[in-house]
Amino acid sequence: MQNIVLFKILGFSELYTEGESPVHRLYRIKSLARRCKRCQLHTTRTQTVFGFGNIASRVMVIGEAPGANEDLYGKPFIGKAGERFTSILREYGIERDRDFYITNVVKCRPPKNRDPRPEEIEACKPYLIVQIEIIRPLLFLALGRYSATWLLGSRQNVQMKEIRGKILISRFDVPMIATYHPSAIDHARSHAQRDFYEKAFREDLRLFAEKIKELQKNLL
Ligand code: URA
Ligand code: SF4
Repeated sequence: MQNIVLFKILGFSELYTEGESPVHRLYRIKSLARRCKRCQLHTTRTQTVFGFGNIASRVMVIGEAPGANEDLYGKPFIGKAGERFTSILREYGIERDRDFYITNVVKCRPPKNRDPRPEEIEACKPYLIVQIEIIRPLLFLALGRYSATWLLGSRQNVQMKEIRGKILISRFDVPMIATYHPSAIDHARSHAQRDFYEKAFREDLRLFAEKIKELQKNLL
């Protein structure tokens, strides 16, 4: 789709400037998101958490919503869940700020970290679409079922155990991997459940790391 058409559909036509570089465009839309009032989450946020990472990497990770630390510092996945995610990937040779761009389905923290509501996901969608349009990912990782559901374009929430651990095709026609949200490990109700989540999460991140490395070789 032509950029201008897409931006018009999303109500961003005033932000579209012919010939503008992707980096500029992303920064401009990020500043729009800072003042965004498209959904009620703007009333409780400290700040909007837009996204972070290498926009030239062609790889995008999508989580659920900012938590308390993210809301405070303005960067996604920097709390406990983020640290777990980042350190496992590092074991597999992947560095977040170098090897991918990371963001969330909704850009503002839901109160008390409740799940994002369908109308909030819908309201925030333009930002995610624009990020995808600019970054043009060749590989996605979905962290958690909200992100996986959205990326698969599924009407019903997906069951993670049925879709994790393999390469899927996203609604954007490029490969994606879906895995549990890293905080599922912390919220497990038993040791057995915790071990199960952790093992699955590690396996999926290993697959993701392999695919990133393959992609990087092919892009050279
Ligand atoms: N969990 C998420 O889904 N996103 C973040 O940015 C932090 C925690
Ligand atoms: Fe705007 Fe998204 Fe924040 Fe809602 S969550 S106020 S749509 S940036």
